[in-house]
Amino acid sequence: MEQVKRGVTIIGSGSATSPQVLGNNNLSKIVETSDDWITSRTGIKKRHLADTQSLSDLASEAAQKAIVDAGLTPDDIDLIILATSTPDDLFGSASKVQHQIGATKAVAFDLTAACSGFVFALVTASQFLRNGVYQNIVVIGADCLSRWVDWSDRTTCVLFGDGAGAVVCQSNQEKDNLLGFQMHSNGELNNCLNLAYQGESKNLGTDKQIIQGGFGFISMNGREVYRFAVSKVPEVIEKALYKAYLSTEDVDWLILHQANQRILDAVANRLKISKDKVISNLSEYGNTSAASIPLALDEAVKKGKIKAGDTIVTSGFGAGLTWGAAIFKWGN
Ligand code: ACO
Repeated sequence: MEQVKRGVTIIGSGSATSPQVLGNNNLSKIVETSDDWITSRTGIKKRHLADTQSLSDLASEAAQKAIVDAGLTPDDIDLIILATSTPDDLFGSASKVQHQIGATKAVAFDLTAACSGFVFALVTASQFLRNGVYQNIVVIGADCLSRWVDWSDRTTCVLFGDGAGAVVCQSNQEKDNLLGFQMHSNGELNNCLNLAYQGESKNLGTDKQIIQGGFGFISMNGREVYRFAVSKVPEVIEKALYKAYLSTEDVDWLILHQANQRILDAVANRLKISKDKVISNLSEYGNTSAASIPLALDEAVKKGKIKAGDTIVTSGFGAGLTWGAAIFKWGN
Protein backbone atom coordinates (compact mmCIF):
# COMPACT_ATOMS: atom_id res chain seq x y z
CA MET A 1 0.00 0.00 0.00
CA GLU A 2 1.33 3.45 -0.90
CA GLN A 3 1.91 5.44 2.25
CA VAL A 4 0.99 9.12 2.21
CA LYS A 5 2.22 11.57 4.83
CA ARG A 6 -0.73 13.17 6.53
CA GLY A 7 -1.48 14.88 9.81
CA VAL A 8 -3.82 14.34 12.75
CA THR A 9 -6.65 16.50 14.03
CA ILE A 10 -8.65 15.85 17.20
CA ILE A 11 -12.19 16.80 16.38
CA GLY A 12 -14.55 15.60 19.11
CA SER A 13 -14.72 14.44 22.70
CA GLY A 14 -17.10 12.69 25.07
CA SER A 15 -17.11 11.24 28.56
CA ALA A 16 -19.15 9.09 30.92
CA THR A 17 -19.24 8.48 34.66
CA SER A 18 -21.57 6.72 37.04
CA PRO A 19 -24.11 8.86 38.94
CA GLN A 20 -23.23 6.91 42.10
CA VAL A 21 -20.96 9.18 44.16
CA LEU A 22 -18.93 8.35 47.27
CA GLY A 23 -17.83 11.45 49.19
CA ASN A 24 -14.94 11.63 51.66
CA ASN A 25 -17.21 11.76 54.70
CA ASN A 26 -19.00 8.57 53.69
CA LEU A 27 -15.68 6.94 52.84
CA SER A 28 -14.50 7.65 56.38
CA LYS A 29 -17.27 5.27 57.53
CA ILE A 30 -15.63 2.48 55.50
CA VAL A 31 -11.95 3.01 56.50
CA GLU A 32 -10.18 5.09 59.14
CA THR A 33 -9.66 8.32 57.27
CA SER A 34 -11.09 11.84 57.14
CA ASP A 35 -12.19 14.45 54.63
CA ASP A 36 -9.41 16.63 55.98
CA TRP A 37 -6.66 14.03 55.36
CA ILE A 38 -7.86 13.12 51.87
CA THR A 39 -8.43 16.74 50.80
CA SER A 40 -5.12 18.07 52.11
CA ARG A 41 -3.01 15.15 50.80
CA THR A 42 -4.71 14.65 47.43
CA GLY A 43 -7.33 17.32 46.63
CA ILE A 44 -9.94 14.58 46.15
CA LYS A 45 -13.43 15.23 47.58
CA LYS A 46 -15.47 12.46 45.95
CA ARG A 47 -15.32 9.69 43.39
CA HIS A 48 -17.91 8.19 41.02
CA LEU A 49 -18.22 4.41 41.35
CA ALA A 50 -19.80 2.19 38.71
CA ASP A 51 -22.64 0.13 40.16
CA THR A 52 -24.77 -1.04 37.25
CA GLN A 53 -22.47 0.00 34.38
CA SER A 54 -19.76 -2.26 33.02
CA LEU A 55 -16.45 -0.91 31.77
CA SER A 56 -17.72 -1.46 28.22
CA ASP A 57 -20.88 0.54 28.99
CA LEU A 58 -18.93 3.57 30.23
CA ALA A 59 -16.48 3.34 27.32
CA SER A 60 -19.32 3.01 24.79
CA GLU A 61 -21.18 6.04 26.18
CA ALA A 62 -18.04 8.19 26.03
CA ALA A 63 -17.26 6.98 22.48
CA GLN A 64 -20.80 7.61 21.24
CA LYS A 65 -20.76 11.17 22.61
CA ALA A 66 -17.36 11.83 21.02
CA ILE A 67 -18.54 10.59 17.62
CA VAL A 68 -21.63 12.85 17.74
CA ASP A 69 -19.45 15.76 18.93
CA ALA A 70 -17.17 15.19 15.92
CA GLY A 71 -20.16 15.35 13.57
CA LEU A 72 -19.62 11.75 12.47
CA THR A 73 -21.63 8.53 12.65
CA PRO A 74 -20.40 5.14 13.94
CA ASP A 75 -20.15 3.98 10.30
CA ASP A 76 -17.35 6.52 9.75
CA ILE A 77 -15.08 4.92 12.35
CA ASP A 78 -12.19 2.77 11.09
CA LEU A 79 -10.49 1.90 14.37
CA ILE A 80 -11.28 1.95 18.09
CA ILE A 81 -8.45 1.84 20.61
CA LEU A 82 -9.61 1.23 24.16
CA ALA A 83 -6.96 2.13 26.73
CA THR A 84 -7.86 0.26 29.90
CA SER A 85 -6.36 -1.86 32.64
CA THR A 86 -9.74 -3.03 33.87
CA PRO A 87 -11.50 -4.70 30.92
CA ASP A 88 -14.70 -6.68 31.47
CA ASP A 89 -12.93 -9.55 29.76
CA LEU A 90 -9.22 -10.41 29.87
CA PHE A 91 -9.39 -11.06 26.11
CA GLY A 92 -10.28 -7.39 25.70
CA SER A 93 -13.37 -5.19 25.78
CA ALA A 94 -12.82 -3.04 22.67
CA SER A 95 -14.79 -5.38 20.38
CA LYS A 96 -17.75 -5.23 22.75
CA VAL A 97 -17.59 -1.42 22.59
CA GLN A 98 -17.40 -1.62 18.79
CA HIS A 99 -20.57 -3.73 18.80
CA GLN A 100 -22.39 -1.60 21.40
CA ILE A 101 -21.85 1.64 19.48
CA GLY A 102 -22.63 0.03 16.11
CA ALA A 103 -19.27 0.86 14.51
CA THR A 104 -19.62 -2.13 12.21
CA LYS A 105 -16.71 -1.26 9.92
CA ALA A 106 -14.21 -0.58 12.70
CA VAL A 107 -11.50 -2.87 13.97
CA ALA A 108 -11.04 -2.58 17.73
CA PHE A 109 -8.40 -3.52 20.25
CA ASP A 110 -7.42 -2.86 23.86
CA LEU A 111 -4.19 -1.15 24.88
CA THR A 112 -2.87 -1.49 28.43
CA ALA A 113 -0.56 1.13 29.91
CA ALA A 114 -2.34 1.99 33.18
CA CYS A 115 -2.63 5.74 33.76
CA SER A 116 -0.47 6.46 30.69
CA GLY A 117 -2.92 4.49 28.55
CA PHE A 118 -4.76 7.39 26.95
CA VAL A 119 -1.57 9.22 25.90
CA PHE A 120 -0.04 5.99 24.54
CA ALA A 121 -3.28 5.18 22.66
CA LEU A 122 -3.45 8.69 21.18
CA VAL A 123 0.11 8.37 19.89
CA THR A 124 -0.64 4.86 18.55
CA ALA A 125 -3.73 6.14 16.72
CA SER A 126 -1.77 8.99 15.19
CA GLN A 127 0.57 6.54 13.43
CA PHE A 128 -2.36 5.00 11.49
CA LEU A 129 -3.67 8.48 10.64
CA ARG A 130 -0.34 9.92 9.57
CA ASN A 131 0.39 7.09 7.18
CA GLY A 132 -3.10 7.37 5.71
CA VAL A 133 -4.20 3.81 6.55
CA TYR A 134 -7.24 4.99 8.53
CA GLN A 135 -9.35 8.14 8.34
CA ASN A 136 -11.24 8.24 11.69
CA ILE A 137 -10.17 6.68 14.97
CA VAL A 138 -11.88 6.71 18.36
CA VAL A 139 -9.41 6.70 21.25
CA ILE A 140 -10.99 5.81 24.58
CA GLY A 141 -9.50 5.88 28.07
CA ALA A 142 -11.69 3.96 30.53
CA ASP A 143 -11.12 2.32 33.89
CA CYS A 144 -13.10 0.90 36.78
CA LEU A 145 -10.43 0.64 39.45
CA SER A 146 -13.12 0.35 42.15
CA ARG A 147 -13.23 -3.34 41.15
CA TRP A 148 -9.61 -3.88 42.11
CA VAL A 149 -9.18 -1.65 45.12
CA ASP A 150 -8.90 -3.20 48.56
CA TRP A 151 -11.73 -1.32 50.29
CA SER A 152 -10.10 -1.97 53.67
CA ASP A 153 -6.79 -0.34 52.64
CA ARG A 154 -7.01 3.39 53.35
CA THR A 155 -3.73 4.11 51.59
CA THR A 156 -5.23 3.23 48.18
CA CYS A 157 -9.05 3.10 48.34
CA VAL A 158 -9.39 6.86 48.91
CA LEU A 159 -7.63 7.64 45.64
CA PHE A 160 -9.53 5.94 42.85
CA GLY A 161 -12.78 6.36 40.93
CA ASP A 162 -14.36 5.02 37.74
CA GLY A 163 -14.99 6.72 34.41
CA ALA A 164 -14.40 6.95 30.69
CA GLY A 165 -13.38 9.63 28.20
CA ALA A 166 -12.95 9.51 24.44
CA VAL A 167 -11.77 11.58 21.50
CA VAL A 168 -12.17 11.22 17.76
CA CYS A 169 -8.97 11.68 15.78
CA GLN A 170 -9.00 12.29 12.05
CA SER A 171 -6.44 12.03 9.28
CA ASN A 172 -5.85 15.43 7.69
CA GLN A 173 -4.07 16.20 4.41
CA GLU A 174 -3.29 19.82 5.24
CA LYS A 175 -2.25 20.04 8.86
CA ASP A 176 -0.91 18.05 11.77
CA ASN A 177 -2.31 19.14 15.13
CA LEU A 178 -0.40 16.48 17.07
CA LEU A 179 2.59 18.72 17.64
CA GLY A 180 4.88 16.44 19.62
CA PHE A 181 5.05 13.43 21.91
CA GLN A 182 7.41 11.43 24.08
CA MET A 183 6.85 8.08 25.83
CA HIS A 184 8.84 6.07 28.38
CA SER A 185 8.72 2.85 30.40
CA ASN A 186 10.84 1.63 33.28
CA GLY A 187 10.05 -1.92 34.34
CA GLU A 188 12.74 -1.76 37.00
CA LEU A 189 10.22 0.20 39.09
CA ASN A 190 7.38 -2.20 38.26
CA ASN A 191 6.93 -3.26 41.89
CA CYS A 192 5.96 0.30 42.93
CA LEU A 193 2.46 -0.11 41.54
CA ASN A 194 0.83 -3.43 40.71
CA LEU A 195 -2.41 -5.25 40.14
CA ALA A 196 -0.77 -8.64 39.90
CA TYR A 197 -1.97 -12.08 38.93
CA GLN A 198 -1.80 -14.38 41.93
CA GLY A 199 -1.79 -18.04 41.01
CA GLU A 200 -1.23 -21.31 42.76
CA SER A 201 0.41 -24.38 41.35
CA LYS A 202 -2.13 -27.01 40.31
CA ASN A 203 -1.32 -30.61 39.41
CA LEU A 204 -3.08 -31.81 36.28
CA GLY A 205 -3.09 -35.40 37.56
CA THR A 206 -0.07 -36.29 35.44
CA ASP A 207 3.49 -35.03 35.91
CA LYS A 208 2.38 -31.68 34.45
CA GLN A 209 1.59 -28.58 36.46
CA ILE A 210 0.04 -25.27 35.64
CA ILE A 211 -0.65 -22.12 37.65
CA GLN A 212 -4.20 -20.97 38.24
CA GLY A 213 -5.66 -18.10 40.18
CA GLY A 214 -6.97 -14.59 39.79
CA PHE A 215 -5.96 -11.01 40.31
CA GLY A 216 -5.38 -9.49 43.72
CA PHE A 217 -5.82 -5.88 44.75
CA ILE A 218 -3.96 -2.73 43.70
CA SER A 219 -0.78 -2.29 45.69
CA MET A 220 1.16 0.94 45.54
CA ASN A 221 4.21 2.52 47.10
CA GLY A 222 2.61 5.98 47.13
CA ARG A 223 5.71 7.92 48.17
CA GLU A 224 7.86 6.29 45.49
CA VAL A 225 5.24 6.92 42.75
CA TYR A 226 4.87 10.51 43.94
CA ARG A 227 8.64 11.07 43.72
CA PHE A 228 8.73 9.47 40.27
CA ALA A 229 5.84 11.63 39.00
CA VAL A 230 7.17 15.00 40.12
CA SER A 231 10.60 14.32 38.64
CA LYS A 232 9.72 12.49 35.38
CA VAL A 233 6.56 14.32 34.28
CA PRO A 234 8.14 17.81 33.89
CA GLU A 235 11.06 16.17 32.07
CA VAL A 236 8.88 14.26 29.58
CA ILE A 237 6.79 17.38 28.91
CA GLU A 238 9.92 19.42 28.23
CA LYS A 239 11.14 16.78 25.78
CA ALA A 240 7.79 16.72 23.96
CA LEU A 241 7.74 20.54 23.82
CA TYR A 242 11.28 20.55 22.41
CA LYS A 243 10.23 18.09 19.68
CA ALA A 244 7.28 20.36 18.87
CA TYR A 245 9.56 23.46 18.68
CA LEU A 246 7.50 24.97 21.52
CA SER A 247 8.25 26.37 24.96
CA THR A 248 6.12 26.38 28.10
CA GLU A 249 5.03 29.92 27.19
CA ASP A 250 3.16 28.50 24.18
CA VAL A 251 1.04 26.22 26.38
CA ASP A 252 -2.63 27.20 26.79
CA TRP A 253 -3.68 24.23 28.95
CA LEU A 254 -1.92 21.59 31.00
CA ILE A 255 -3.93 18.38 31.45
CA LEU A 256 -2.03 15.92 33.61
CA HIS A 257 -3.21 12.51 34.72
CA GLN A 258 -5.45 13.42 37.68
CA ALA A 259 -3.62 11.51 40.42
CA ASN A 260 -3.05 14.09 43.11
CA GLN A 261 -3.50 17.88 43.22
CA ARG A 262 -0.08 18.19 44.85
CA ILE A 263 1.49 16.46 41.81
CA LEU A 264 -0.40 18.81 39.44
CA ASP A 265 0.80 21.85 41.40
CA ALA A 266 4.41 20.62 41.65
CA VAL A 267 4.66 19.86 37.91
CA ALA A 268 3.12 23.21 36.90
CA ASN A 269 5.45 24.96 39.33
CA ARG A 270 8.53 23.25 37.96
CA LEU A 271 7.52 24.09 34.39
CA LYS A 272 6.59 27.68 35.38
CA ILE A 273 3.10 27.21 33.94
CA SER A 274 0.59 29.38 35.77
CA LYS A 275 -2.08 27.68 37.91
CA ASP A 276 -4.96 29.03 35.87
CA LYS A 277 -3.75 26.97 32.88
CA VAL A 278 -3.91 23.72 34.85
CA ILE A 279 -7.08 21.68 34.28
CA SER A 280 -8.10 19.83 37.42
CA ASN A 281 -11.24 17.84 38.14
CA LEU A 282 -9.91 15.31 40.61
CA SER A 283 -11.87 16.84 43.48
CA GLU A 284 -14.97 15.43 41.74
CA TYR A 285 -13.66 12.13 40.32
CA GLY A 286 -10.40 11.14 42.05
CA ASN A 287 -7.91 9.13 40.01
CA THR A 288 -9.76 7.44 37.14
CA SER A 289 -6.57 5.99 35.62
CA ALA A 290 -6.67 5.92 31.77
CA ALA A 291 -9.93 7.91 31.81
CA SER A 292 -8.64 10.90 33.71
CA ILE A 293 -7.08 12.92 30.85
CA PRO A 294 -9.92 12.54 28.28
CA LEU A 295 -12.52 13.08 31.03
CA ALA A 296 -10.84 16.34 32.11
CA LEU A 297 -10.35 17.35 28.47
CA ASP A 298 -14.00 16.75 27.59
CA GLU A 299 -15.27 18.70 30.60
CA ALA A 300 -13.01 21.65 29.83
CA VAL A 301 -14.12 21.68 26.18
CA LYS A 302 -17.81 21.45 27.09
CA LYS A 303 -17.42 24.27 29.65
CA GLY A 304 -15.96 26.43 26.87
CA LYS A 305 -12.59 26.72 28.61
CA ILE A 306 -10.68 24.93 25.85
CA LYS A 307 -11.31 26.45 22.42
CA ALA A 308 -10.40 25.47 18.87
CA GLY A 309 -6.74 26.20 18.20
CA ASP A 310 -5.67 26.07 21.85
CA THR A 311 -2.39 24.25 22.54
CA ILE A 312 -2.85 21.49 25.10
CA VAL A 313 -0.13 19.57 26.89
CA THR A 314 -1.23 16.19 28.24
CA SER A 315 0.86 13.86 30.34
CA GLY A 316 0.03 10.43 31.72
CA PHE A 317 2.06 8.49 34.29
CA GLY A 318 1.57 5.41 36.37
CA ALA A 319 1.95 1.66 36.60
CA GLY A 320 4.60 -0.05 34.52
CA LEU A 321 6.08 2.31 35.39
CA THR A 322 5.09 4.23 32.28
CA TRP A 323 4.95 7.92 31.47
CA GLY A 324 4.45 10.07 28.42
CA ALA A 325 3.35 13.41 27.05
CA ALA A 326 1.41 14.43 23.94
CA ILE A 327 0.98 18.00 22.76
CA PHE A 328 -1.81 18.91 20.38
CA LYS A 329 -3.92 21.76 19.12
CA TRP A 330 -7.61 21.26 19.84
CA GLY A 331 -10.08 21.02 16.98
CA ASN A 332 -10.02 21.01 13.22
N1 ACO B 1 -6.35 8.58 55.81
C1 ACO B 1 -5.62 8.91 56.89
N2 ACO B 1 -4.31 8.62 57.02
C2 ACO B 1 -3.71 7.99 56.00
C3 ACO B 1 -4.40 7.62 54.83
C4 ACO B 1 -5.78 7.92 54.77
N3 ACO B 1 -6.53 7.62 53.70
N4 ACO B 1 -3.55 7.01 53.99
C5 ACO B 1 -2.35 7.01 54.58
N5 ACO B 1 -2.44 7.59 55.80
C6 ACO B 1 -1.39 7.81 56.78
C7 ACO B 1 -0.26 6.83 56.62
O1 ACO B 1 -0.53 5.65 57.34
C8 ACO B 1 0.91 7.62 57.21
O2 ACO B 1 0.86 7.53 58.61
P1 ACO B 1 2.23 7.30 59.44
O3 ACO B 1 3.07 8.50 59.12
O4 ACO B 1 1.73 7.23 60.83
O5 ACO B 1 2.80 6.02 58.90
C9 ACO B 1 0.59 9.05 56.83
O6 ACO B 1 -0.81 9.10 56.53
C10 ACO B 1 1.38 9.56 55.65
O7 ACO B 1 1.34 8.60 54.61
P2 ACO B 1 2.10 8.81 53.25
O8 ACO B 1 1.95 7.58 52.39
O9 ACO B 1 3.47 9.33 53.50
O10 ACO B 1 1.23 9.99 52.62
P3 ACO B 1 1.56 10.89 51.39
O11 ACO B 1 1.62 12.30 51.78
O12 ACO B 1 2.71 10.34 50.58
O13 ACO B 1 0.26 10.72 50.49
C11 ACO B 1 -0.49 9.51 48.54
C12 ACO B 1 -0.09 9.42 50.01
C13 ACO B 1 -1.69 10.41 48.44
C14 ACO B 1 -0.83 8.12 48.04
C15 ACO B 1 0.69 10.12 47.72
O14 ACO B 1 1.87 9.44 48.06
C16 ACO B 1 0.46 10.02 46.23
O15 ACO B 1 -0.37 10.70 45.68
N6 ACO B 1 1.29 9.23 45.54
C17 ACO B 1 1.19 9.13 44.09
C18 ACO B 1 0.11 8.21 43.64
C19 ACO B 1 -0.02 8.30 42.12
O16 ACO B 1 0.27 9.31 41.53
N7 ACO B 1 -0.43 7.28 41.46
C20 ACO B 1 -0.53 7.46 40.00
C21 ACO B 1 -0.63 6.32 39.29
S1 ACO B 1 -2.09 5.41 39.61
C22 ACO B 1 -2.06 4.17 38.40
O17 ACO B 1 -1.21 4.06 37.59
C23 ACO B 1 -3.13 3.14 38.46
